[in-house]
Amino acid sequence: MTARSTAATATRLAFLPESSLPPAVAWDGDGIRFLDQRALPFEIRVERARNADEIVAAIASLAVRGAPCIGVFGAYGIALLRRTVSDDNAFLAAAARVRAARPTAVNLAWAVDRVLASKDMLAEAEAIHREQEAVDAAIARHGAALMCDRARVITHCHTGGIATAGQGTALGIIIAAHRDGKQPTVFVNETRPLLQGARLTEFELRSAGVEAVLQVDSAAAVAMAREEIDLVLVGADRIARNGDTANKIGTYALAVLASHHGIPFYVAAPLSTFDARIETGADIPIEQRAPSEVTAFRTAPSAHPEARVFNPAFDVTPHHLVTAFVTERGILRPPYREAIDEVLRVSR
Ligand code: MRU
Repeated sequence: MTARSTAATATRLAFLPESSLPPAVAWDGDGIRFLDQRALPFEIRVERARNADEIVAAIASLAVRGAPCIGVFGAYGIALLRRTVSDDNAFLAAAARVRAARPTAVNLAWAVDRVLASKDMLAEAEAIHREQEAVDAAIARHGAALMCDRARVITHCHTGGIATAGQGTALGIIIAAHRDGKQPTVFVNETRPLLQGARLTEFELRSAGVEAVLQVDSAAAVAMAREEIDLVLVGADRIARNGDTANKIGTYALAVLASHHGIPFYVAAPLSTFDARIETGADIPIEQRAPSEVTAFRTAPSAHPEARVFNPAFDVTPHHLVTAFVTERGILRPPYREAIDEVLRVSR
């Protein structure tokens, strides 16, 4: 976080026990409270954003992360700025900065635009938040059809409750299947370089009582070859009109591996992650992040500090590698151009 950010609460624990995490995002009257996801699973740290600098810093630093979650947070951010920035030009400039804080996940721009176009910005932000909770529940219901008894699943990055400010997308499906008694086992890619899988997914599955096996990303191939994997289930940050899907770096490799091993590859995402203005994945802007995320983990160096680094935060999985999408409106199967156009036409 920037120096301007204020730690409202910090509870330090060696490792967190069963979770009763505070909400990922909450409006508190004259600020937005958020759970700093960078601190998990070692510490519950709740912070507050009160101005554009703090909102942008929270999103850009991945303190608040996950496509739907940054949408909800950005929506409250715009409502907050409208209350605190009286000059219209200054307000619009600040809103544009929030909208651009992360370029790949379309949920952020979608939510900011929706709030900006509304009459009561706080009511609209609250509606986006409540809708996300309902959407997650619907995704979990529809996704149940993909989960056989004792399913062995590989997932990547983190798609749980704190990534959506709801109950999660791909992880929400898995946890719902566990609650239905299906006893899934989840192979969790640690998700280099920032370890969202190791820090957040393993922790959330552990907290829910789901069997989780942590693996380095490069173990996915041998897991598919030897561990009787039934399916791969991941989230998304932006889905083009033809079904090409941007998600956390490493997702494309996983999809190629799944195709090679004849394993179905599913993407769970709300319709707010589909971008009808973008025809193919070639047009999805891919965020490049700092070399320091690869040359060190937190403060521990892992390479020469001046190493040249290639650090795209996302990759694009071509649509032909996606077996199906799980949305709040049901499961979409190829041909995706028609299925996506139809579901967006009915929903918007
Ligand atoms: O860079 P991150 O951690 O925000 O990337 C997140 C992902 O790639 C998630 O899979 C995606 O946002 C879906 S969250 C439900």
